[in-house]
Amino acid sequence: MLTHAEIAALHLASYSAPAALYAAPGRVNLIGEHTDYSDGLVMPAAIDFATVVAISPRTDGRILIHSVNYDERIDKSQKELLDDNFATLRAGRELHWSDYPAGVLWVMREQGVAIDKGFSMTIAGNVPLGAGLSSSASIEVATAIAVLGATGVKLPLSKIALLCQRAENAYVGANCGIMDQFVSCCGQQDHAVMIDCRSLEYKLAPIPSNVRIVICNSMVKHSVAAGEYNSRRAQIEKGTEILQSHRSEIKALRDATVDDLAQWGSEMSPVVLKRCRHVITENARVMAAVEAFSASDLTLFGELMRQAHNSLRDDFEASCKEIDILVELAVKQPGCFGARLTGGGFGGCTVNLVDVNCVEAFTKAMSEGYLSATGIEAEIYTSRASDGAHAIVL
Ligand code: GLA
Repeated sequence: MLTHAEIAALHLASYSAPAALYAAPGRVNLIGEHTDYSDGLVMPAAIDFATVVAISPRTDGRILIHSVNYDERIDKSQKELLDDNFATLRAGRELHWSDYPAGVLWVMREQGVAIDKGFSMTIAGNVPLGAGLSSSASIEVATAIAVLGATGVKLPLSKIALLCQRAENAYVGANCGIMDQFVSCCGQQDHAVMIDCRSLEYKLAPIPSNVRIVICNSMVKHSVAAGEYNSRRAQIEKGTEILQSHRSEIKALRDATVDDLAQWGSEMSPVVLKRCRHVITENARVMAAVEAFSASDLTLFGELMRQAHNSLRDDFEASCKEIDILVELAVKQPGCFGARLTGGGFGGCTVNLVDVNCVEAFTKAMSEGYLSATGIEAEIYTSRASDGAHAIVL
């Protein structure tokens, strides 16, 4: 990854204009999986892997974007990139890295942010791509704060997160919830963020100082992930409708209880019942996890992670063989308080809470154990919880 000064120098050399730099992090979710799109609770942390966007204004109305990671540039008029006719836009477009920044420009224009004179941008990042660590959200949020910074428009962070989610839902075409963009905006060093995805209120939970977040990348990417994500969302909606028909106060699955499931679950298909059970019990685990963190009770926190993983694996069926191997290996290691699949699932990464004195031995045992069980070399990252989106002062 280039240093910030190198990114600024590259931008100056490419566009003959000095840039302002902005960064936004990826995230790891400690607990609260697949709860965000039914108004539920999540507890992610921003990680110290980020996307940096360098930006300078133009006068010719064009949008030039250079992706350092893809070693590719686009140079387009606003008409080409941000066509108002959404149907034309969707039909003429292939999925491309530039969809993420373009989607953000599209929502910014919709908000009345003056982008008509155009921009030059350089984008570089070190969030592992497609690993379930929200590289997309970090690109969106870094682009958003760069464009807002360049145009002098101030928006609350929660609004920025919502606009980035809209860019991903409506322009990129991925039906994600709010968690990733929100924590990329509002993360804080050494804290996890407990987000209420209904009210968008959040609470910072200090991560005990004797523990490190270790992320194990299974290096497995399942092509089914997007389809499975959408089918899970549909199943949750189906289950919610059934419960609502009995209790109109249930606006989203967040409002339902295990008692509701015991009473009316028999009207659901067995699969829908399991999916709903995961979400309802997961919200309760997040609440218990916040308490455990504030009491520095890492054993309890680890136990909740274990239950969360089992529920995601068995009821939500969002895990895969390689991820389960990583979790089973991790929980046997000395100093590992808890391990689970993090993010959307069907591959990607596990999150592990590890005693600070055991991180080195943990990393070694995980690399060796995973390689001998699967023949795959895992990538293992140790991260502290980091700050959310910010301007970079050079
Ligand atoms: C992906 C989505 C999030 C969330 C998680 C699952 O990361 O982008 O909104 O739904 O999956 O918890």
